[in-house]
Amino acid sequence: MSTDSLSDLHVGRPNVGDRELFDRLVDGIFERRWFSNNGQLVQELEERIEDYLGVEHCVLVCNATVGLQLACEALELSGEVILPSYTFVASAHAVQWQKLRPVFVDIDPRTHNLDPALVEEAITEDTAAILGVHVWGRPCVPEQLQKLGEEHGVPVMFDAAHAFGCGTETTMIGNFGACEVFSFHATKFFNTFEGGAITTNDDALAARLRKMKNFGFAGPDHVVSLGTNAKMSEIHAAMGLSMFAKLDEILDVNRERYEVYRRRLSAIPGIRFLDYDDVARSNFQYIVAEVTESESGVSRDQLVSELKDNGILARRYFYPGCHRMEPYASDSNVATKALPRTEELCHRVFNLPTGSGASLEDVDRVCSRIESLFSESTA
Ligand SMILES: Cc1ncc(COP(=O)(O)O)c(C=O)c1O
Repeated sequence: MSTDSLSDLHVGRPNVGDRELFDRLVDGIFERRWFSNNGQLVQELEERIEDYLGVEHCVLVCNATVGLQLACEALELSGEVILPSYTFVASAHAVQWQKLRPVFVDIDPRTHNLDPALVEEAITEDTAAILGVHVWGRPCVPEQLQKLGEEHGVPVMFDAAHAFGCGTETTMIGNFGACEVFSFHATKFFNTFEGGAITTNDDALAARLRKMKNFGFAGPDHVVSLGTNAKMSEIHAAMGLSMFAKLDEILDVNRERYEVYRRRLSAIPGIRFLDYDDVARSNFQYIVAEVTESESGVSRDQLVSELKDNGILARRYFYPGCHRMEPYASDSNVATKALPRTEELCHRVFNLPTGSGASLEDVDRVCSRIESLFSESTA
């Protein structure tokens, strides 16, 4: 029997690191009485991440949303930012919060990521930056977006919230564009309860970000720029260091569950299971599938509701699309823009529970429930 009851089956139940290490690190925090302000554990975690990603600078922050805002501020952007609507609303909110204007562009329906050809069409003289999002940790063709940015003289940055541990054939995510921003929220592959990181190979940008995340301080009583409080605390860094100790294990768990889902769900007519075969390095954190109602006779919303009745909290993602959410939906420019692929995808996609919070028996039950629902509908 599963130790989890099905009523506990959430998408994004947190992965847990090495508890003994975490407890020891927490003891050290209390012994040193150094709780925040670039403490020893924050510095250690930054170094671990720099080594792991092969990147020059990791600037830890309190979360990815504020990290994206800081990145826009440090890059001194002004004007329009091109990004997908098919993303978590934080990508758009961070841009809007900085008084920049989001320009939503449609996606490639195969990968769920920005379509570079449409990005190029959207570039104008008002374009301040391109913000690529590695949705589900799938690299959003970062080399192509970088090339576009270079050709048009536009900085490129990435929302890498989903993509810790992911990479292309040659390069780990974290090394592309002017900078990349990771989320270490509890639901992510690698979590620090709440948290995030901005990574960059640009020394000057990293130095600016370090000051800006600490109120603009360059030294004691010496404020040299606008800043905010975006610091990560020591206890969050302790969680990150304890996650590192289990990262390979967590990846194995994710991959094992992904393989079971893939074998079972790919066989069901009317379901398209999103695999990661074209991704050189994936964290397998998201189990993503699409329903085609005309083939299956079941709509995505019926499926999600049926699973919910059985205690399986599958989730729609990123319904209804940022451009249909406020404040963007009331912006006449945004409301009239056609994003047919995004709109269609928002009605088809669902995510399923995975990670160590969902046992293999749980995964089996989820698959069986979906199989029987789809066979009932075609019987
Ligand atoms: C694509 C994307 N961007 C940004 C964020 C915001 O991350 P955080 O919760 O760390 O602010 C998330 C969080 O889920 C996300 O999925």
